[in-house]
Amino acid sequence: MSTAGPGRDVPEAQIAVHWREEEYYQPPASFIGQANAADPAILKRFGEERFPECFREYADLLSWDTYWHTTLDTSHPPFWKWFAGGRLNACYNCVDRHLAANRNKAAFLWVPEPEEEETRALTYQELYAQVNEFAALLRDFCALKAGDRVTFHLPMVPELPVCMLACARLGVIHSEVFGGFSGTACGDRIADSGSRILITMDGYHRGGKLSDHKAKADEALQAAEKLGQPVDKVLVWRRYPDRYLSHTPMAEGRDFFVDELLPRYRGHRIAPVSMPAEAPLFLMYSSGTTGRPKGAQHSTGGYLSYVAGTAKYYLDIHPEDTYWCAADIGWITGHSYIVYGPLTLGTTSVLYEGAPTHPDAGRCWRIAERLGVNIFHTAPTTIRMLRKLGPDEPLKYDHHFKHMTTVGEPIEPEVWRWYHKEVGKGEAVIDDTWWMTETGGFLGATLPALQPMKPGSCGPGVLGIYPVIYDDEGNVVEPGSSRAGNVCIRNPWPGIMQTIWGQPERYVELYYARYCRDTHSTNWRDWPFLCGDGAVQGEDGYLRILGRIDDVINVAGHRLGTKEIESACLTAEEVAEAAAVPVIDELRGRVVEMYVALKPGLEPSSELEDKVARAIEHEIGKIARPKKVWIVPDMPKTRSGKIMRRVIAGISNFADVGDISTLANPEVVDSIRHQVQSRKLESGEVPRELTEAEREEIKTFGGTA
Ligand code: WTA
Repeated sequence: MSTAGPGRDVPEAQIAVHWREEEYYQPPASFIGQANAADPAILKRFGEERFPECFREYADLLSWDTYWHTTLDTSHPPFWKWFAGGRLNACYNCVDRHLAANRNKAAFLWVPEPEEEETRALTYQELYAQVNEFAALLRDFCALKAGDRVTFHLPMVPELPVCMLACARLGVIHSEVFGGFSGTACGDRIADSGSRILITMDGYHRGGKLSDHKAKADEALQAAEKLGQPVDKVLVWRRYPDRYLSHTPMAEGRDFFVDELLPRYRGHRIAPVSMPAEAPLFLMYSSGTTGRPKGAQHSTGGYLSYVAGTAKYYLDIHPEDTYWCAADIGWITGHSYIVYGPLTLGTTSVLYEGAPTHPDAGRCWRIAERLGVNIFHTAPTTIRMLRKLGPDEPLKYDHHFKHMTTVGEPIEPEVWRWYHKEVGKGEAVIDDTWWMTETGGFLGATLPALQPMKPGSCGPGVLGIYPVIYDDEGNVVEPGSSRAGNVCIRNPWPGIMQTIWGQPERYVELYYARYCRDTHSTNWRDWPFLCGDGAVQGEDGYLRILGRIDDVINVAGHRLGTKEIESACLTAEEVAEAAAVPVIDELRGRVVEMYVALKPGLEPSSELEDKVARAIEHEIGKIARPKKVWIVPDMPKTRSGKIMRRVIAGISNFADVGDISTLANPEVVDSIRHQVQSRKLESGEVPRELTEAEREEIKTFGGTA
């Protein structure tokens, strides 16, 4: 919200919106015929007048030890309690209950990054055995019990879900820190959650390199210690048993190889601990690195019901499907839609260790072909990257998807169409699923057999979710008005976070304070949930997400959504990726500079720079015409593929680029800096000293991950 500079007080409702309406795409008949939700009556069952009881249908997908007495308890808003009085165990629901009918079916298919290493299948029975043995180790060797917290810093290996499920079996709260995060970031989260056990791995493959991951554990422990949280034990899985991939020593009495401990627990079985529905299942820290980390606390009963229901109806998962979500389990997407959702439904979930483009842009399609994947789930950044590196690759493989998901950021209609036509071969539905760490599961998406797709829009609120858009004054921005505003959800739902771990005031402040009508009210209608995204809603109720409220560039009082500008660039067919950043300008407050990467084989030229600028002018207007278009060989990116806008914003403003150690490709920073800054100096631009506030704005532009 806090864009500095002239026009700071321009209301959100005036974010310029210039999207064209896109055409609808209908789901193929072959999809409709087999869909879990093919009867429109489901929309009625989840109508507002049926709230909150409609969510019984999701909870009934689970096996409960004790059935709940109250579907939604609103007595302490906004700390909602779902399925109060109920008891269950999440691990039992994901593993044990599938044994009778499907013990030797694969729960996970793990694909190592090196292509010469075999895929490993973990059956439900084998998963059961491993989870029990590891739970025994956690209980008896680490003295962990229900309610304790454990931090994992694990990569994409099957040991990660084994750890998660073992914790869930005991009622221990797990907190997985994305493997690509630094040791210090991990240490901050260890301290915040109060974990005294860290579980890590010696090393793993990513992008053709074998990393020394255990080294980060030592940094993490130091950071945690500084914050007053000592760690007693570090459990180290080995990527290859009998080999140690790290150069750091194993600290005597503190660090233990899991493969050396496990034989003691061979054959042990641990009864699943029956937990109250509202017991926390896990913490998921959001990616910001400024200020105290925010651990979204997710519940056992509500969360598990919500991911089961949404995975069934929106991802259309059937037990006989082979489902591959190519996200990382270190993000909420992986927790909800690689592990908990698919496993409650008893399907086969694919895990891939490495980078989607390793060793080439055909890797994903080879995996899909080989394993017979029929549901594919990934992020727009990955889709853009694959389109850039191998636009014709998908057609070379004999894979067939019935369903494809996209998640994580808005997808440009151009990219959507490539995904649909080339990756999906026109045979698959696309579900653009909009949600966030805090929400546990989907908020906006199309019911794939019942609601047509519209490129660039995620769709309406999902079953039981009633969105609304407010302007800054709290007035409703009507659907079809073409005005943007702050998207909120009017009601609570089972997947919503319970609180920010240890910071309940911050939870209220960040998500409810803005639009709460009466802080004394126990009526949920007085507590709209602020999602933090700007959005426009079409007449059809479909939401078009513009990105985080903070991701706007304010040019002479016009608040331009960065996503919209980037989307306009992609209408130039040469462009593979685009990022818009603000440059401090005496006259206009901020002006836009554009960074673009071209499709393979194309050479930069001033004609192309001009073409990109004209595309923006054409799609949005003169106001957004960039001051400069920089054609760069590659964008600085995080390991999860997000373009680091703050780094290029720093370069464009001759400011500090901040910490680049977590980038997947830190080496590009120097070459981009050289390219951009020398051209700027040559053209007579005089770098100006930035104020404190300006430096902060640039440093945090586009998120602080
Ligand atoms: C963005 C990821 C547009 C949004 C699940 C949100 C999206 C933030 C979409 C949360 C989508 C996620 N279309 N934008 N389909 N999905 N976003 O917490 O800005 O990592 O607020 O959760 O990603 O990111 P998070």
